[in-house]
Amino acid sequence: MEHRHHGKSSADFLDSDEILTELNFKGNETFMDAGCGDGHIAIKALKDYLPDGTAYAVDNHKESIDEIESYIKENDLENLIAVHADFTKGVSAVRDEYIDVILMLNVFHGFKASGEMDVVIEELKRMIKDEGKIAIMDFKAIDMAKGPSTDIKSTPDELEELFSNHNLKMIYLNEEIGEDIPEGKSHFIIIFEKD
Ligand SMILES: C[S@@+](CC[C@H](N)C(=O)[O-])C[C@H]1O[C@@H](n2cnc3c(N)ncnc32)[C@H](O)[C@@H]1O
Repeated sequence: MEHRHHGKSSADFLDSDEILTELNFKGNETFMDAGCGDGHIAIKALKDYLPDGTAYAVDNHKESIDEIESYIKENDLENLIAVHADFTKGVSAVRDEYIDVILMLNVFHGFKASGEMDVVIEELKRMIKDEGKIAIMDFKAIDMAKGPSTDIKSTPDELEELFSNHNLKMIYLNEEIGEDIPEGKSHFIIIFEKD
């Protein structure tokens, strides 16, 4: 992965093991790295957490998906599936109730900025199994050197209320994760299930 594009990848400042441990994989899940960028999370998940699982790496940035496709071919990876799709328009390659765990890492704030949070939540909900999970990890809604501006970030309370409007209940919250910053940690991770 070292040679691949690092435009907006969190690979350089977040610890993928710290994140993936939060998802408590059994090892045979169907996982989606939603807004995958360079796909490093999907690749790492398959390598170290999902010996019998499958990972979907989904992004609307065509170049990122093309690079992941090349990586799949070069490494003969059968269980990594790269999908070029836009969450606001629908991921038609993935059928209803198919995914065990979806992770959106440093992506969701973009949908607050564009006013598309509700449509994206419905699409994520459509794809998870009845007992599936949606994990959102994002920058805390405080001013900090890295990341998006504070006005487009959400607090866990705001997400809990928003997701509850879609009958998704919070089952887990960790507000001390990510990079060390003067205020503590840079990120939170919040996990939802169908109510
Ligand atoms: C800040 S990057 C994070 C990438 C990766 N999750 C990581 O943490 O390294 C945000 C990613 O979300 C993708 N993205 C933004 N809007 C999207 C949409 N509507 N549908 C699919 N992907 C989207 C971008 O193309 C970009 O790769």
